[in-house]
Amino acid sequence: MSARGHAFGIDIGGSGVKGAAVDLSTGELVHERIKIPTPQPATPQAIAGTVADLVTEAGWDGPVGLTLPAVVIDGTARTAANIDKAWIGTDARALFSDALGGRPVTVLNDADAAGLAEDRYGAAKDFAGPVILLTFGTGIGSALLYHGMLVPNTELGHIEIGGMSCEHRAAASVKERDDLSYAQWATEVGIALTALEDLFFPTVFVAGGGISREADQWIPLLTNRTPVIPAHLRNTAGIVGAAMAVEGGITP
Ligand code: BGC
Repeated sequence: MSARGHAFGIDIGGSGVKGAAVDLSTGELVHERIKIPTPQPATPQAIAGTVADLVTEAGWDGPVGLTLPAVVIDGTARTAANIDKAWIGTDARALFSDALGGRPVTVLNDADAAGLAEDRYGAAKDFAGPVILLTFGTGIGSALLYHGMLVPNTELGHIEIGGMSCEHRAAASVKERDDLSYAQWATEVGIALTALEDLFFPTVFVAGGGISREADQWIPLLTNRTPVIPAHLRNTAGIVGAAMAVEGGITP
């Protein structure tokens, strides 16, 4: 199955590999998303097997877009901050294409995919000017967009602030690990956002990741100057952005 105006996106995360066909005219999933637990250890070969199973289960025979929580340049993963180190230097595009019978695939950073989706269909669609999406999870992912154009692989979560990497002070995992209250954690997030807005002057920050579901508990506590809005697409942004990358021929 593959239909005009539809593309297939797969979001590869630490706990699940999630995928669905996406209607690119609306940004909506065409069917319920399929989720398969991420194999452990999450080596390239193991993930490629899961990706093949997912696409077979969906009965999809067209091109596929995939995300990785890594810098991806010309289809090859270049970093692995929170994933199996075996990914560094892996030609993910060739790996997934082989696993999917030689069909074309597009691979991009997970936060870049979420940013593309939120910029076109979600929280940032009505904002002019530069948009920065940040995903708060195990680490902090980032996407920088201007009028729908993505600057790939920004890795703002790794900017050093006060002698510490941004994600080591303000990822959602830090809140959990140190048992911080929302107020304590929001202080750290505010410091990170202030540093970023002083460098990029975005029109808006979009906050993604699981903790954006509890946005009302911590966004009102932030003291930085740029508006922060929660992501709209929630757990489908990565899938939708991956599908957009297929259509757009985005090959960071
Ligand atoms: C990685 C990014 C990724 C982010 C969210 C960071 O640790 O360096 O590439 O986008 O985590 O998964």
